[in-house]
Amino acid sequence: MPETAKTRWMSRNRSTATLTRINRERHYTCYGFDGDMMAGLSGGGHLAYYKEHGISPVNYDIRDLQAHLDRRDSLYRGLGLPAVAFRGCDVLEVAPGSGQNSLYVAATMPTHYDLVEPNPTAIKDIKSQFANFELPHTAPVLWTTRLEEFEPQRRYDIVICENWLGDLPHELLLIRKLADLVRPGGVLAMTLTPLIGLLPNMMRKLLALRLVSRDMPFAEKAARLTEVFGPHLQTIQNMTRSHRDWVMDCLLNPHYLNIILPIDAVIAEIGSRAEVLATVPRFYIDWRWFKSLLASERRFNASFHASYIRNLHNFVDYRREFPARAAEENQTLDSICRDFRAAALSWLDVYNSAGGSDQVTAAEMIGRSIRRLGHQLGTIDPDLGVAFEELCDVWEKPDLDGESVAAMAHFKGLFGRETVYISLVIDGAAT
Ligand SMILES: C[S@@+](CC[C@H](N)C(=O)[O-])C[C@H]1O[C@@H](n2cnc3c(N)ncnc32)[C@H](O)[C@@H]1O
Repeated sequence: MPETAKTRWMSRNRSTATLTRINRERHYTCYGFDGDMMAGLSGGGHLAYYKEHGISPVNYDIRDLQAHLDRRDSLYRGLGLPAVAFRGCDVLEVAPGSGQNSLYVAATMPTHYDLVEPNPTAIKDIKSQFANFELPHTAPVLWTTRLEEFEPQRRYDIVICENWLGDLPHELLLIRKLADLVRPGGVLAMTLTPLIGLLPNMMRKLLALRLVSRDMPFAEKAARLTEVFGPHLQTIQNMTRSHRDWVMDCLLNPHYLNIILPIDAVIAEIGSRAEVLATVPRFYIDWRWFKSLLASERRFNASFHASYIRNLHNFVDYRREFPARAAEENQTLDSICRDFRAAALSWLDVYNSAGGSDQVTAAEMIGRSIRRLGHQLGTIDPDLGVAFEELCDVWEKPDLDGESVAAMAHFKGLFGRETVYISLVIDGAAT
């Protein structure tokens, strides 16, 4: 019997229900029985760190409100979601932080807008933002709970979750949960963090840990690192976060090396149900004629993934754009980055357990990875090679000092395209 549109929808819905059940079982395994182990892996995640210090270091400069709304509009239109896509929809935003970004969504007049944010400092910020927001908007419903405990009765047309989840096993399950909260055919808008894009800041974090002593008070560490990395951050035009917030969220955040989320991890977790719609920045080119995009020929994810790999080198420096390269060349880069990540995690483990000779070994491995990477990148752009060379020289200084870091002439302006916004259509095969 030929499969009709209706039966296709039904079978998709059944598989969603089954997935939800499986998710729940996996969810309990991670958060119930193995909770301590997972907490150890992530160091308690962003939330424990933010709560410990009473911070929510994601405040943006929105004194020029129109400029802020323009930025958000530019982002969402790039994701295939112009303002009209939100109007009249049910929207969920998980982990909104300060709530400043939510102002834009609220102003597009969704029918219903839920926010899920468990950090007490962020909750205060959100309330204050909306209390002072004078443009016409849909007042959001604020759920002061973790995503893990959020079990709404409804599903949503659009689910947003930016700058939170990485590729730790329990966070991947939360990405599944986000997908489960989307109505069939709706959109999940989230962020990816490609490893190569985060690499310059991962190195800044490791340098930072060597520059402040463990027992220094938190505020003093933040002040010292803001001073040291100020010359690096001053090179960034259009930054809307304070340097101090950035230092707290990146350099001092014990969870920072866990925020990596390559597209492969997302596709492996929910790829059978999620198809890439768009990304910001945009690097995905698909020249196929739409009339050929039928049934199994649609392959949106495969086509997207091919562009992603061919452009991996473009994530290393936000100031530069290079032509796409052969996938094999970038796979070599990716493999060096993975070696680097493994070495950085080993270094951090030893650092957290108060140092020792293993730390020297891990530090050498880090140095080797950076040199290899610099060598590879130097063939694409000599300036990148020089910046990595300088980074390596500074990293290898036995008595590292803040002045040498502050004065890095070549590396200081190097920041990766570390955040890639992505929209995914969930359970949206054509009917
Ligand atoms: C880096 S901030 C990003 C905030 C905002 N999305 C942005 O882009 O500015 C991460 C956010 O995740 C929130 N968060 C952490 N753990 C959470 C959880 N278990 N459930 C929901 N939100 C969580 C934090 O409180 C924080 O607001």
